[in-house]
Amino acid sequence: MKQAVSFDRLARYEGNVPRYTSYPTAVQFSDTVTFEDYKQWLQVLPRGEPVSLYLHVPFCDELCNFCACNTQVVHKESLRASYGDILCQELKRLAFYLDSRRSVSFIHFGGGTPTTLPVQTMKKVMNTVREFFDVQSDADISIELDPRNVSKEYPPLLDELGFTRVSIGVQDLDPQVQRACGRIQSKELTAHCIALVRDQHIQSVNIDLIYGLPNQTKHTVRETIQSVIELQPDRLAVFGYAHVPWKFKRQTLLEGDILPDTVERFQQRQIIDELLRAAGYQVIGFDHYALPHDTMSKAAQQGLLHRNFQGYTVDDAPALLGVGASSISIVPQGIVQNHPSVAMYQKAMQQDGLPVVRGVKRNAEDLLRWTIIERLMCDLYIDLEKITAQYHQPLSLFMEALDKLKEFEKDDFVELSGYKVKVTETGRPFLRNIAVVFDTYYRAAPQRHAQAI
Ligand SMILES: C[S@@+](CC[C@H](N)C(=O)[O-])C[C@H]1O[C@@H](n2cnc3c(N)ncnc32)[C@H](O)[C@@H]1O
Repeated sequence: MKQAVSFDRLARYEGNVPRYTSYPTAVQFSDTVTFEDYKQWLQVLPRGEPVSLYLHVPFCDELCNFCACNTQVVHKESLRASYGDILCQELKRLAFYLDSRRSVSFIHFGGGTPTTLPVQTMKKVMNTVREFFDVQSDADISIELDPRNVSKEYPPLLDELGFTRVSIGVQDLDPQVQRACGRIQSKELTAHCIALVRDQHIQSVNIDLIYGLPNQTKHTVRETIQSVIELQPDRLAVFGYAHVPWKFKRQTLLEGDILPDTVERFQQRQIIDELLRAAGYQVIGFDHYALPHDTMSKAAQQGLLHRNFQGYTVDDAPALLGVGASSISIVPQGIVQNHPSVAMYQKAMQQDGLPVVRGVKRNAEDLLRWTIIERLMCDLYIDLEKITAQYHQPLSLFMEALDKLKEFEKDDFVELSGYKVKVTETGRPFLRNIAVVFDTYYRAAPQRHAQAI
C-alpha cells in the first residue's frame, strides 16, 4: 500500500520525538525516586496476578558502530560468570521484597548479547528464577541472539531451559552497509542460526532490521528484505536508525559514510513495508510485522497488543520487573531504573536493597495518558470519551490535544469523529508524532530523542 506523503510534509514531521515505550518517558527519570519508593510499590502489587521479568546482560563479543544499547565488550568468562551470580542475587532480593511468591508469565533476556553468559551461568540464572518464582507452564521465555556468536551448546540449552522465542539481530545484509556498521554477518550464518533454534522447538523467531543506516539505498534495502523474507521469520522489528552520537560516541564512526536523509529513510521504510505486506506479514503498529499464526498478530487483531521497553509486545502482566545493570522496571505506581554502569550496579548490589538509581512516579493522569498513548500506538484507535470515563478524569484535559489532531486530520493522518480518533494508513508511520500531542511533559520541554521517521 503506497502512502502518499509529500516531501514538505515529511520535513514537518522529521523532528525528534519519543518512541513511547513508557509514559512518562525515560527523560523524566530523576534520582528523587529511589529504592524506598520501589520497595513500597512492590509490596502492593496486585496479588494473584503474574509478573513479567526482564534480565539485562550488557556484554557483547564485539561492538557494532550503530548500536544505541547499553553494552560493553567483556571477553573474560570469569567476569561474565560473576555478573550472572549478581543477577541471581538480585532475583532473590526481588522475590524477598514482593509480599508473596509470584507467578511469572513472561521472561525476556536482553542486551547486549545475553548468550555471552556462560552455559553454566545461564543455567544458574534460570534455576534461580524457578527457585524464587513460579514460572507458568505456558510462559513466554525469550532471548536476544547474535548469530555471529552463538556457541553450539546454546541452542540445546535454550530448549532445556524452556525458552520459546528468540530475537535475532540482522540489521542489513548488504556487505557495504555491514562494513560501515562494523558487523559482518552473512545470510547463511543467520539462516544456520535460525535452523538450529527451530530444531530446538523455538516457536517464534524474530529478526531485527534497521533502515537509515550508512550506505543503505533503496536498492540494497530491497535486496535485504527479499533475502530476509526467504528466511521466514515469524516476526520482524524494523527500526529507523537512531543516530544519537551525543549518547553513544561510537556512532560518530558512521558519520564518515553516507547517512540517508529523511526522504531516503522514508522511502526505504516504504519499500520494506510494501515487500513485507506482499509476503503475507501483518503490520503491527509502526515498526513490527508478524506472520498471521504468530501470537503477536493474534494479539494485534484482538486489541491485546502492548508496549514496553522491548517495543511492541504481547506481554500483558501488570508489572515488568527489571534485573541487571540499566534494566527498567514498570509497575502501576512508577518506573525505576538500575545503575546503567556494570561497576556501579555491582557496587550497589554490595549494599542492601535493590540497585535502583533513578525513576519517576506515575499519578492518575500519567496512567490515563499512558493508556491513551499505548492504545493509539497499538490499535491505531482511541475513544477519548470512553477512556477518560474509565479513569474518572475530565475530557477537558484533552481539548488542546484534539485541536492539535485537527492539524493531523488535514494531512490525512487521522480521522476524527467526536472524541474518537482513528489513525489512517497514511498516518501509521507517524504514530510517534501523533502520540506527542498527549504528552504533557514533552510539550513543556521537548528533549533530545531519536528522529521520528
Ligand atoms: C539490544 S540490541 C541487541 C541484539 C543483539 N546483541 C544483536 O545485535 O545481535 C537489539 C536491537 O536494537 C536495535 N538497535 C540497536 N541500536 C540501534 C540504533 N542505533 N537504531 C535503531 N535500532 C537499533 C537493533 O536492531 C538490535 O538488533
